[in-house]
Amino acid sequence: SYVIGPACIDVNDRACVDVCPVDCIYVGDRKSYINTAECIDCGACEPECPVEAIFVDRTARGDETRTLFLQDSKAFFTEVLAGRDEPLGNPGGARKVGDLNADTSLVTGYSG
Ligand code: F3S
Ligand code: F3S
Repeated sequence: SYVIGPACIDVNDRACVDVCPVDCIYVGDRKSYINTAECIDCGACEPECPVEAIFVDRTARGDETRTLFLQDSKAFFTEVLAGRDEPLGNPGGARKVGDLNADTSLVTGYSG
């Protein structure tokens, strides 16, 4: 899977969202999140990001920050986000879900 790292925080440009063929990039409040179960590894999103926030999961090995954000991109779909009753799970499309206006606990409190 591809993963969105901390450079996205407070930029949340969404250029990546527009090019994803399977619509698996979900928009949070400070950041967006790729659903690792739904991503088909096409790589189309990666060059679109103006702050180069997107990386491939295999490059997280041995990299503390990337590992943290790989785990966090799963947490976005398994945690109960603010304002919701249950975890998002794998909705099978971000557009129908809309903007979530919430982040993981990591990203909510993230200051770099
Ligand atoms: Fe974030 Fe870059 Fe997408 S800033 S929303 S990962 S285009
Ligand atoms: Fe979509 Fe990027 Fe995966 S464009 S399918 S999130 S590699």
